[in-house]
Amino acid sequence: MPALVLLGAQWGDEGKGKATDLLGGSVDYVVRYQGGNNAGHTVVVGDQKYALHLLPSGILSPGCTPVIGNGVVVDPSVLFSELNGLNDRGVDTSKLLISGNAHIITPYNVTVDKVTERFLGKRKIGTTGRGIGPTYADKINRVGIRIQDLYDESILTQKVEAALDGKNQLLTKVFNRRAIEVGQVVEELLGYADRLKPYVADTVLVLNQALEQDKVVLFEGGQGTLLDIDHGTYPFVTSSNPTAGGACTGAGVGPTKISRVIGILKAYTTRVGSGPFPTELFDEDGDALRRIGGERGVTTGRDRRCGWFDAVIARYATRVNGLTDFFLTKLDVLTGWEQIPVCVAYEIDGRRVEELPYSQTDFHHAKPVYEYLPGWSEDITKAKSFSDLPKNAQDYVKALEEMSGAPISAIGVGPGRDETIEVNSFL
Ligand code: IMP
Repeated sequence: MPALVLLGAQWGDEGKGKATDLLGGSVDYVVRYQGGNNAGHTVVVGDQKYALHLLPSGILSPGCTPVIGNGVVVDPSVLFSELNGLNDRGVDTSKLLISGNAHIITPYNVTVDKVTERFLGKRKIGTTGRGIGPTYADKINRVGIRIQDLYDESILTQKVEAALDGKNQLLTKVFNRRAIEVGQVVEELLGYADRLKPYVADTVLVLNQALEQDKVVLFEGGQGTLLDIDHGTYPFVTSSNPTAGGACTGAGVGPTKISRVIGILKAYTTRVGSGPFPTELFDEDGDALRRIGGERGVTTGRDRRCGWFDAVIARYATRVNGLTDFFLTKLDVLTGWEQIPVCVAYEIDGRRVEELPYSQTDFHHAKPVYEYLPGWSEDITKAKSFSDLPKNAQDYVKALEEMSGAPISAIGVGPGRDETIEVNSFL
């Protein structure tokens, strides 16, 4: 069963880095298929902590080929600084492959992201300000710049001209900004071409050939299910498809090739940026989850909003992704609570609702209906098997599994690489 998708089952930041890293040793290719440097993975290897934003976390596993697929948007300056940072620490990054069809986050896309957010005022999305949305907008508007365009100066110039035509009108006339010069942008982009060249490949061909040869390919989603442009809490979402189908379009691999879809599920819930979040806590429990869980964005440094586990969301993630398994993370963060609330349904305008409402208005009105599960106080970070967990922790996991609709095949009990219980093997 060689093709696995690993994705966030909530609003991102579920601890995917730990999961991909855990699998990294037995995986031949780790592929990012959407998003860009808005993602943030913290991976702990030995006593070293790595923060990755754009690169697939498989870059830290020596036997593995990391791939940036066509569905990703790439800011070359961020890519190089991430590569430099890893090289300085002795990590070999020479195997990296980048799709020539991936779109480039240009400096003007970053400008437009920031200016748009400022103009939205209190209606802002709370984006990471990395130019992600405007780059995908250019892609859909067919004025995007792709990595392959860097190797034909005349085409590149024409494309930058086309992209800036309307944008400069907007920047100068609406946003009161200075126009961006075509020549300057082209020069900056061409400056990346030589260093990028050795990495650029026909990644669709490479990955399909790898699958034919029964290699293990792991597709790593950025963000999470509820931030999906189609299936998330629109408009408070990112501009790509982190859900499982995104792996097919964003890497050029057919759905019949995907054998397993693993949802990363945090034992509680967090969210960054604006938008509805039914189980959000504004009290000392929320502060405690934030403090104990280290819930601060890897990319933006923003505090994450924290709340209890929401089984309605987990069930939804199972459905829209066709999840075959969950990887439950950060169970250790819940140690010490006498009882732990779990949201099992919503109350919306006096009605009990078991499934995620498709209507944005209803979701904004959703109030959590809680069940209270008994907590545990024992340190669980040394647990190596499910039976090492205290009975109440076992019951918590079993209850979540039953409510969420897919087996929990791994449990994170601490941030370290080996602080994971494997219940069923993923491979
Ligand atoms: P964008 O992806 O920068 O356009 O931001 C859109 C929304 O997605 C904002 O609410 C961000 O906070 C959120 N977001 C983007 N990337 C991540 C992530 O990796 N984890 C959590 N939230 C994210």
